[in-house]
Amino acid sequence: MKTGFCVFLAAFVALGASWFGFVYGPLKQLGVATETKVLQSDDKWPVQRTGDATLGLQVYRANGCAACHTEQIRQTGAANELSLMNLGVHQATDLKDFIASLLGTVPELMNFSNAVAGNLAGWKGELPKLIYSGADDTVVLLLGDKLKAVGVKTEARVVATGADIARMGWGVRQSVAVDYLYDSPVQLGNLRAGPDLANIGVRSPDLNWQLQHLYAPKSITPNSTMPAFRYLFTVKKIGAIPSPDALKLPLTQQPNEFTPPPGYEIVPTAEAKQLAAYLVSLKNNAPLYEAPFTPITAAK
Ligand code: HEC
Repeated sequence: MKTGFCVFLAAFVALGASWFGFVYGPLKQLGVATETKVLQSDDKWPVQRTGDATLGLQVYRANGCAACHTEQIRQTGAANELSLMNLGVHQATDLKDFIASLLGTVPELMNFSNAVAGNLAGWKGELPKLIYSGADDTVVLLLGDKLKAVGVKTEARVVATGADIARMGWGVRQSVAVDYLYDSPVQLGNLRAGPDLANIGVRSPDLNWQLQHLYAPKSITPNSTMPAFRYLFTVKKIGAIPSPDALKLPLTQQPNEFTPPPGYEIVPTAEAKQLAAYLVSLKNNAPLYEAPFTPITAAK
């Protein structure tokens, strides 16, 4: 009898502790997540999807897109950047000498003189000119102030860094929990046979492009290994009035394997339109408290 109670207690503690770890803990951390504020703006994040785009997530899920695509941008760090924007009354060569003298005399700046001098080597006055990029913000603040004092305009920016961010159009910052607030279920994915799609709405915002790519990926990327999702489209005889939704395929001299037979048009089904609406709703372009960066439009 005594051991029976011990076994029960041990099982209770083991199951209870894992319930706390796997269910209660995450719920406590993320269960009450709400929209957050976009930095330096009154906008809220994330933006609620349209009805079509919300349904599109289910089409994405049903077609197994997450088997080949991820929706998560990784970041390894952040860098502070300082760029020259306007030289005021100065000439490039004089300014170079002035900056060199600051780097040689101001103790806090001495450590960075090689980095800044390297960036300025061969500079003939083209603007904007990036003069420092690195983890430390001393240069950005101090050198920025010293240059401002002599009438030179600079711009300080925080940029996210990492292999994903370095890829053109993949995103400007890491993905964070709140990005997925309106996704149910979340389509993180764990294999990148195709590009990450967390920012595809910024990279390719055109619905017709998205539909054409789904209908015939090879008509856009000749060597694409993405399957064509033809069953999301119908090939119809053009009636008295052509369908307003019909795909606008690029005009080619020679009809190819993607062109419909003469007198026919390719019309996306409701699912295809929902999926395209979902894809263009995927964006990763708002600076947040937990993932800050300086947007280009905020340049002063
Ligand atoms: C077998 C793997 C595979 C599956 C499944 C797949 N894709 Fe792809 N996808 C790729 C590959 C590879 C590319 C890159 C070549 C290209 O652009 O066509 C790609 C490219 C894309 C692009 C263009 C990305 C860019 O950066 O230009 C989009 C959008 C896309 N896929 C959406 C989808 C959607 C939506 C689905 C589900 C209906 C899907 N994919 C299913 C492999 C796949």
